[in-house]
Amino acid sequence: MAGAVAFVTGASSGLGARFAEVLAANGAKVALAGRRRKALEERAERIAARGGKAAIVPFDVREHERIGAAFDQAEEALGPVTILINNAGISGTAKVTDLSLAEWREILDVDLDALFLLAREAAKRMRRGGAIVNVSSILALRPKAEMAAYSVAKAGVEHLTRVLALELGEAGIRVNNLAPGYVVTGMNAAFFASEESRPLIAEIPLGRVGQVDDFDGAILYLASDASRFMTGATLVVDGGHILAF
Ligand SMILES: NC(=O)c1ccc[n+]([C@@H]2O[C@H](COP(=O)([O-])OP(=O)(O)OC[C@H]3O[C@@H](n4cnc5c(N)ncnc54)[C@H](OP(=O)(O)O)[C@@H]3O)[C@@H](O)[C@H]2O)c1
Repeated sequence: MAGAVAFVTGASSGLGARFAEVLAANGAKVALAGRRRKALEERAERIAARGGKAAIVPFDVREHERIGAAFDQAEEALGPVTILINNAGISGTAKVTDLSLAEWREILDVDLDALFLLAREAAKRMRRGGAIVNVSSILALRPKAEMAAYSVAKAGVEHLTRVLALELGEAGIRVNNLAPGYVVTGMNAAFFASEESRPLIAEIPLGRVGQVDDFDGAILYLASDASRFMTGATLVVDGGHILAF
């Protein structure tokens, strides 16, 4: 991926941190976005220590007006962005009858509104084509009780991806979804360490929950020319879980 510049949101932990490392290890320069500056700095140092090139772009994706400046900052440090990994996300659990509008709006803001604005900004800048990978979830395809806002946001991400693919193909920009199943990250580590998670894990045909490195091949595939004839598609990586719940 030499010559590629990837803007990775949610690069301070979990999947995004791993995606950034994998892309950098394969020759891409990476801009690491997230709110936690220290975590981004540590990740950038790790990447540099392994011979990669990374710059940090600390900002809150809910501050929509900062998105343009964040891309400017990344491009000043690394050159024109050719790949966007739209990965930052939050989740929340509540029955619809207990879900406040504020909680609903917060999840939609991070998981859908900001993702749309980031994709729009990237698309305007990718004058020589590029790749956008939107991180959705298997809950986009099959909703889960007590996760209305998250399920709806991720379903929105999937459909937005399809519209973007229709509109951006002529500019040589491919847009695809990566739909992970359950992966152990900061978002859910406490749950997967508990007994409560056993029945859920038992549902997964491959018999285990995912680890962040289970997505190395998928992210490289969608971000690189390996998937050059693919756009508007969803790659499900979930150990077969979607078949079973
Ligand atoms: N873990 C799973 O089981 C699973 C399954 C399917 C899909 N996913 C999706 O995978 C993506 C990554 O999640 P993860 O599991 O890796 O969780 P994670 O470790 O909690 O990472 C979430 C990332 O999003 C960033 N983020 C959250 N709110 C932000 C904000 N307001 N502004 C900027 N950045 C923000 C966080 O950075 P800061 O805190 O530094 O801001 C963090 O780097 C999400 O879109 C999630 O929905 C996860």
